[in-house]
Amino acid sequence: MTNPFREKTNLYSEAHRPQFHFSPKEKWLNDPNGMVFFEGEYHLFFQYHPHGTTWGPMHWGHAVSKDLIHWEELPIALYPDGHGAIFSGSAVVDWKNTSGFFEGESGGLVAIYTSADTYPDSERPRQRQSLACSRDNGRTWEKYGGNPVLSDEDITDYRDPKVFWHDDSERWVMVLATGQTITLYTSANLIDWEFASEFGQDEGAHFGVWECPDLFPLMVDGNPDHMKWVMLVSIGDNPDYKEGSRTQYFVGDFDGKTFTNCHDGDTILWLDYGRDNYAGVSWSDIQEKDGRRIYLGWMNNWRYANQVPTETWRGAMTLPRELTLVTTLSGVRLLQKPVTEFKQIRKETKVSEQIKLSEEECHSIEVDHALMELNLVVKLDDAKEINLDLHHSAEEKTSIRYERFTNTLSVDRTQSGIDGFSDSFSGISEGHVELMEDKLILQLFLDSSSIEVFAQEGRSAFTNLIFPKGTDTTLSLTAIGGKANVEQLSLTELSSIWSKE
Ligand code: FRU
Repeated sequence: MTNPFREKTNLYSEAHRPQFHFSPKEKWLNDPNGMVFFEGEYHLFFQYHPHGTTWGPMHWGHAVSKDLIHWEELPIALYPDGHGAIFSGSAVVDWKNTSGFFEGESGGLVAIYTSADTYPDSERPRQRQSLACSRDNGRTWEKYGGNPVLSDEDITDYRDPKVFWHDDSERWVMVLATGQTITLYTSANLIDWEFASEFGQDEGAHFGVWECPDLFPLMVDGNPDHMKWVMLVSIGDNPDYKEGSRTQYFVGDFDGKTFTNCHDGDTILWLDYGRDNYAGVSWSDIQEKDGRRIYLGWMNNWRYANQVPTETWRGAMTLPRELTLVTTLSGVRLLQKPVTEFKQIRKETKVSEQIKLSEEECHSIEVDHALMELNLVVKLDDAKEINLDLHHSAEEKTSIRYERFTNTLSVDRTQSGIDGFSDSFSGISEGHVELMEDKLILQLFLDSSSIEVFAQEGRSAFTNLIFPKGTDTTLSLTAIGGKANVEQLSLTELSSIWSKE
């Protein structure tokens, strides 16, 4: 049976519509919010403006998934109220009913978000933290009568609470973006919050306002006796930097009150070298038997987010990614890999092996599908450079280049398609990538308007939007300045997550 609504509206088949990334049916989306796993469902709330395709009075949109890949969009969860718009925040399962919101019940969902308005008779933004609870698996929400529960008149940028339960201290911990720092608070009941510490004054990058923090423990190298804490901090757009808005992370220790960075304050660690991965945080309450830390970001950049060339909707999320920590020569680093659940959208795979590359021997493949995963292992013999071009049409291509001398991987979208909507869109993003036993290992996901590249088994990620008009992909691979050997190249067709029914 065909769905008459779908046929009428062409829903999910519009130009540039992501086919295996979450985007709203219509209108504007930014940050992911309130990500929590509860009773078999992954909840994804998001900053949502239901009356326009540019940023406006914020609501929390809502979607659920049983597998992190196929999403069902539900009605809006939180509407602006007398305390203002609903900015970013988190959700937790209050298992022990510490809040007392779930009388006679075992527990339920509590959302902790920023209420954003202005001070009375003033234009100065006012940001305070509020609560809402749901007794029906996130379908309906009741705002707490005592809102807001946390405010500070001295700090203007005071937002994006991410809350988690800390077992050792038996308290809730909130990390909150407070201008150029992250402030930590603790609470026994989610309602009364106490200052614990402040982090970040002389640490990491301060190129823009600090936003959307997260803090969570991870094993290092899979060793349960070696835990470190990771703090994510997104930093807002600043016209002085071509990168626009981006996300940094810190690795350190946490004692229930204070986070201590285990790197020098001037070490800057980027979560993603691409332009389009912002405001990401991790899911709360993933079951212990699963044990993963799963993250997802807003696949956009404040520099041009309001101008990207989509019509009925604007904004999408990255693929959900599993985060782990590994020891490298430079220290402990975050690894990210798409969650294995994505494998269910794999269709046919074509594998080629042992392909010789040189300047004279370019290898080309015509790909007869628009959605694809590519896995590449190439050994650089004496080659100085590897070029992988994805041609979207005769005039459009996205180029991925590895330069051995500088250990730089770059993703060049200067010719990838529509880019006139913003002077800042066209460009090349690059990051440091070390070869592993002389090998470059890439996993790449091509959707209708994005390319996500994971290098060296997740050691670096490059997430970029692209807006090609063509969808006839041809790949070409070349080695420059010497020879290289492609040990394996596999191309997998991917299917859309939006059912045709
Ligand atoms: C990050 C952000 C948050 C804020 C929200 C408003 O992208 O600026 O700090 O809560 O977006 O939509």
